[in-house]
Amino acid sequence: MKLMYDLPEQDERAFLAAVGEGEKRMYCLPYNIEVDRFVSGWMVFTDQYIYKILDGELKEKFKMSELSDFSTENLYGSCAFYAKQNGVSRLLCRFISGRNLPRYSVMVKACEILAEGGSKEPLTNSEPERYCPKCGRPFVLHTKICPFCQDKKETYLKLWRMTRGLRLMMLFPLIAAIFSVIFRFVVPAVQRYAIDNFIVPEFGIERGSVGAFLLVVVAIVVLDVFHRGIDVIKQRMAAYSGNKFTMMLRALLFEKIQNLSMASVQQKSAGDLMGRINNDVSTVQSFITGNLPTYFAQAFSFLLALVLLLCLDPLMCLFVFIPLPLTVFIIIRFWTTVRQRNIHAWLITTRTNRHLQDILNGIRVVKSFGSEEREIIRFEEHTERQAAQDESNAKLFDTVFPLLGFALRLGNYMIMLYGNLKVFAGSMTIGALNQFNSYATIIYEPLMQITAIPRNISAFLTSLNKVFEILEEEPEVADIELPIDISIEGDISVRDVTFGYDSYNPVLEHINLEVKQGEMVGIVGHSGCGKTTLINLLMRLYDVTEGAIFIDDVNIKDISQNALRSQIGVVLQETHLFAGSVRDNIRYSKPFATNEEVIAAARLANAHDFIINLPEGYNTMVGEKGYSLSGGERQRIAIARALIHNPRILILDEATAALDTETEKLIQDAINKLTKNRTTFAIAHRLSTLRNADKLLVLDRGKVAEYGTHAELLAAKGIYYKLVMAQQRAALQKQG
Ligand SMILES: Nc1ncnc2c1ncn2[C@@H]1O[C@H](COP(=O)(O)OP(=O)(O)O)[C@@H](O)[C@H]1O
Ligand SMILES: [Mg+2]
Repeated sequence: MKLMYDLPEQDERAFLAAVGEGEKRMYCLPYNIEVDRFVSGWMVFTDQYIYKILDGELKEKFKMSELSDFSTENLYGSCAFYAKQNGVSRLLCRFISGRNLPRYSVMVKACEILAEGGSKEPLTNSEPERYCPKCGRPFVLHTKICPFCQDKKETYLKLWRMTRGLRLMMLFPLIAAIFSVIFRFVVPAVQRYAIDNFIVPEFGIERGSVGAFLLVVVAIVVLDVFHRGIDVIKQRMAAYSGNKFTMMLRALLFEKIQNLSMASVQQKSAGDLMGRINNDVSTVQSFITGNLPTYFAQAFSFLLALVLLLCLDPLMCLFVFIPLPLTVFIIIRFWTTVRQRNIHAWLITTRTNRHLQDILNGIRVVKSFGSEEREIIRFEEHTERQAAQDESNAKLFDTVFPLLGFALRLGNYMIMLYGNLKVFAGSMTIGALNQFNSYATIIYEPLMQITAIPRNISAFLTSLNKVFEILEEEPEVADIELPIDISIEGDISVRDVTFGYDSYNPVLEHINLEVKQGEMVGIVGHSGCGKTTLINLLMRLYDVTEGAIFIDDVNIKDISQNALRSQIGVVLQETHLFAGSVRDNIRYSKPFATNEEVIAAARLANAHDFIINLPEGYNTMVGEKGYSLSGGERQRIAIARALIHNPRILILDEATAALDTETEKLIQDAINKLTKNRTTFAIAHRLSTLRNADKLLVLDRGKVAEYGTHAELLAAKGIYYKLVMAQQRAALQKQG
């Protein structure tokens, strides 16, 4: 998110005149409401002052050290940025909500740090920017693509490089298009010959020339067959090269998405990624193999028709162009409107889809609150808005196209008038007039189509950029150049680790932890204190902000991600079973595991007994649309899956939280078997689950609050002690 805008020239001058020496400019944000009118003002934050600048003048200046209690308030349609100055509440500025509220929310935190004389490094923010820095319009959802400012040349170049190997194939539709155009132009010329020599009354068809006439007719038919034959070949080649291209692009995208970091995949929804792989790739492909040769053919036929018309009759050629200014005027007006409407329509569709996705994902909640009726009404509102938009678009198209057609016909009318006069005067043959008229009609065709070109190009470019955006994303968590493929023993050392998903909001601070090979560490703490985050860092789903994590004295940043993750086994609270058999799910991380290995892992996980009682044993299909397993059964499959590659480090993140006590016992028993000789991290709410832990780590607000054995922590009578007591009381109450 952008926190440092550039000041316009006059405002920059005003700022430079006001700013003191040695002050550091940290942030600069726009504000746009002053009392009750819209303005275009700026708030510049230095390490010592906040400057409020409007229209080239310094309006106000606030001393950072006098300010405290920064806040933002969301009013109806506008927002305000407040602070206390020497204890008195003051309004610093007002702005329109939406794009600026998140920025000022960061400023609340940033100013607090500055006012207290804290760090003078500007905060950065991982929240993706949602507005184009150049033109201020919103980006295409989930992307950094501005449909108005996209760099077309750069994109075309990248595409060109990508089509290596397919170019010859893609060239063919273009060549075919040229031939098809040429045949089309030859037909009216042959017709002219037929009319002038055989049909016109003066000549009539003489007996002897019937054969010659038939020959001409056959020639026309043959030309037409050629024309269509080439079209068929062209379409087939286009389909072939198009499919090759699509396959290549989809494979590339999928591979890339697999290697992106967690953070960036989380920012993009599954729906969005699916859209890019399916729809955007299709749009790109159909443009390259469909629209592009068409445009090319049309440009070519326009030029050819123009040359031929000039050769046939330069004066009459002028009439062709008389309606042009009117047409161009209509077309340009139409473009602008269509463009705006498309953006609008696109926004409405996105909103409808988002609503739909939201409701379908949360259908259980909807049903359990009995709010189906309300959701139906809300959805109807969305679709009505969309329908209204579509309808008015259709109306526009249906009015403009006949109008355009008429404007263009004006030229034909004039040609008819003037041409016929020439025919009467004997200076032109009917055949020639017919030929001229055919070419004039051809020349208008591309003009009619021109309206759709910018829209298609824009849709194509947007889709292409969405594809490239993924392909070119630098994974945040990347392997070093020569990563180490270590075979892990299991000593883990977390050294002074600080991490936050946003830089100004650390989730973990200065964590230190030493775990010996084979030890089991229980991690305890309130929900949201950072337990899962610590695990995420250990698996290197995210990189630490400060400090480092070592496994067997090797920094995990130097270990290849593959080696690291293949030696860590994870069981989470929610088990995702992939569509496939139980066996496939167990050997997910080791696809070539033998049957014996699968069964051994299942036995260890206490899963073998229930699996052989399933309708088809290990071959039972599970996952979406498959056989429904209970939570405990799924969890045991998950444990078997974690075990199959005999991991050196085991992670259990609330693995038993969703289970009843009875099932938990069964699973606990399996877990106890697993943890032997493996370094284990277990997160659990029910502390009784952690009684086998060698050490317990109590996290509190991102810091290590307590660390030691069960007995030590009980004796210390701290947080852990309180938690244990509270759970025992709750358990007693339940029994009593
Ligand atoms: N992907 C994420 N992006 C931003 N913040 C996150 C993300 N995941 C977790 N958090 C935040 O980090 C904090 C710690 O979360 P987490 O480690 O999941 O807690 P715990 O597992 O202890 O319940 C919470 O405040 C949570 O809102
Ligand atoms: Mg958690």
